[in-house]
Amino acid sequence: MSFLDPQDWTFPVPIAYGPGRLAEIASLCEGAGMRNPLIVTDRGSASLPFIDTLAAHLAKGGLKSALYSGISPNPRDDEIAAGCKIFAEGGHDGVIAIGGGSGMDGGKAVALMALNDLPLWDFEFEQTPPTETHFPPLICIPTTAGTGAETESTAMITDTAQGVKWCVWHPDLKPACALLDPELTLGLPPHLTAWTGADAMVHAIEAYCVPGFHPLCDGAALEGLRLVAHWLPIAVAEPGNLEARGAMLAGSCLAGIAFLKGLGLVHAISHMIGAEYDTQHGLTNAVLLPEVLRFNAPNIDDKVTPMAQAMGLASTDFESFHAHIEAMLRQIGIPKTLSEIGVPDDCAARIAEKALKDSAAGTNPRPLTAAEVQTVIEAALPKDTPL
Ligand SMILES: [Fe+2]
Repeated sequence: MSFLDPQDWTFPVPIAYGPGRLAEIASLCEGAGMRNPLIVTDRGSASLPFIDTLAAHLAKGGLKSALYSGISPNPRDDEIAAGCKIFAEGGHDGVIAIGGGSGMDGGKAVALMALNDLPLWDFEFEQTPPTETHFPPLICIPTTAGTGAETESTAMITDTAQGVKWCVWHPDLKPACALLDPELTLGLPPHLTAWTGADAMVHAIEAYCVPGFHPLCDGAALEGLRLVAHWLPIAVAEPGNLEARGAMLAGSCLAGIAFLKGLGLVHAISHMIGAEYDTQHGLTNAVLLPEVLRFNAPNIDDKVTPMAQAMGLASTDFESFHAHIEAMLRQIGIPKTLSEIGVPDDCAARIAEKALKDSAAGTNPRPLTAAEVQTVIEAALPKDTPL
């Protein structure tokens, strides 16, 4: 196979993969029933070239569109409400969610809310989904190889009243199409390539370690881990390597499909640190991963060998696997401690209490107490600082 050739996949939603396929956006919109999409992205992506290119392709295809780019790195509930207002005022008939994790999550949450007069938190993942709902068609376009959430409606949104992040979604809102164009990720600088790619690696590992029999997600997790473990260091070292960019985009998509099974303690802690301190999601995950793996070790005994094999390791015991993960994180420039990314050392008890309420905590392979989660967070803080 080649990561440079166009491919069309239909699982779990239609996926158009291949370099240059952004040029097909107008026909994909029309196929989904859109004539006037609202493009939703994050503030950081608003001025990047792919937004102008996207708008130009839409105009060339005879489609109207407008841009809403008021989404923060950690998307907020008030920003989603503002996007819905623009959707209504502009008479839009669909949403193109484009960007990294935050841009796409913002777009997906706007699509969840645009036609429904309900509180956003009625769509919280662990609630019974509302029944009287209507959704505009949605197309997701990732511009980083990390979040992997382009095939689902799930979005992490900060509840500004409580300072907590919740996962919102609805089972009836599936993207009409996910467009994976590796050319869109070529401009991503090495540090963001590393942080977002590490997020994909954590998705694959955490999803695979979720207990239970789910061969579809487990297969996606191992193949996603195989691709990311091989190609992430190459994509970081050679940002212009289109084959590496394509493999990472495919790998992150697979890891994203895998976490339909659930995630684990890395994400549960990271969501709450992100909500409080606005740290970058993939970077926060990457720093937490080694400590969480060590905590979970007694409960993932049967998972380590398949993951180590997927990563191509000669030794497949836990210590070899753990050492390889740590070495890879250092190779791509991930710092060792939370303090190095701006997390204060007095937050562990509070973050632990919040993390336990995150839906990802419920699928962690090892049962959790607040005291244990606090210990994991403290271990990821600087070890020479009195706690
Ligand atoms: Fe993530």
